[in-house]
Amino acid sequence: MKILVLGCKGQLGQCLNDQLAITEHDVVYTSRGQIDIAKFEVTKAQILEISPDIVINATAYTAVDKAEEERQAADRINHLAVANISNICDQLDCWLIHVSTDYVFDGHSAVPYKEDNPTNPQGVYGESKLKGEAAIEASGCKYLIIRTAWVYSEYGNNFLKTMLRLGADRGELSIVGDQIGCPTYAQDIAKSIVSILACLDLKDSSSGIYHYCGDEPCSWYDFARAIFVEAEVHGLKIPGYVKSIKTSDYPTPAIRPAYSVLDCSKIESCFDVTRSSWREGIKTVIDRLQG
Ligand SMILES: NC(=O)c1ccc[n+]([C@@H]2O[C@H](COP(=O)([O-])OP(=O)(O)OC[C@H]3O[C@@H](n4cnc5c(N)ncnc54)[C@H](OP(=O)(O)O)[C@@H]3O)[C@@H](O)[C@H]2O)c1
Repeated sequence: MKILVLGCKGQLGQCLNDQLAITEHDVVYTSRGQIDIAKFEVTKAQILEISPDIVINATAYTAVDKAEEERQAADRINHLAVANISNICDQLDCWLIHVSTDYVFDGHSAVPYKEDNPTNPQGVYGESKLKGEAAIEASGCKYLIIRTAWVYSEYGNNFLKTMLRLGADRGELSIVGDQIGCPTYAQDIAKSIVSILACLDLKDSSSGIYHYCGDEPCSWYDFARAIFVEAEVHGLKIPGYVKSIKTSDYPTPAIRPAYSVLDCSKIESCFDVTRSSWREGIKTVIDRLQG
């Protein structure tokens, strides 16, 4: 099976590289330097030339706040380029594995979101990702859309690495305590995708949206506290005081859902995957960062 990974230099892209390297699959990894998905015609020619059986799209415009002022750029990458990729996959009759976000929901729920719950993104990023989902669904290609949340890893920029950096510099930190979600270790997303690959040929009917995230809901404040507990165990400098604040005390350009816990029962029942243990993931990431 020939697999094409788009966006191999991002957090998920690098984790896919780690997890696919220990399989027998024939994998072509491309970063923006090799395939720039914003160049639609060139991308089409390149993917047709590679002729993969499966495309894994790990690219995205992920700057949630910046998207509020860069609407067109976010739309081009998260929507129009995704539409282009899904049309190419349809032409090749190959699978598209695409990743989306909990930010397609408005956060007004009190129970975990299921795949068919109504969406209502609160910001440009979530809106552009939702349009990308719709474009894939309309394309007619075989697809899996995996919505995930609060992604962190040893790679790139993410909340965990920001906490370690700020924690080493500051005596006190204020972290939002009234947004609830599920942190997800990107290596666990990549492992789940690898595990799903084995079933795709057999399960032609499995096209659809699936939720996959960490195993325990928490606030950003709880997540930060867990990071600092583990950082201290690893001998790292941590702040003396971590304060829980309200979203209204920390205004950001993009509105984030107050509650974006995803119900993962569908993916667990359809495929051989287990939810990401985010507390274990914190330990692994700090171990790896310490090298
Ligand atoms: N991060 C989160 O907290 C989070 C939460 C929920 C869902 N997700 C979703 O999870 C997926 C993976 O996210 P991530 O955290 O791994 O993202 P990331 O680290 O920001 O990586 C995104 C990658 O996309 C690449 N890219 C952007 N524009 C491109 C273009 N025109 N052509 C080719 N590549 C391009 C970037 O390349 P450059 O490095 O060259 O910019 C980067 O390597 C995304 O679909 C995201 O929406 C993420």
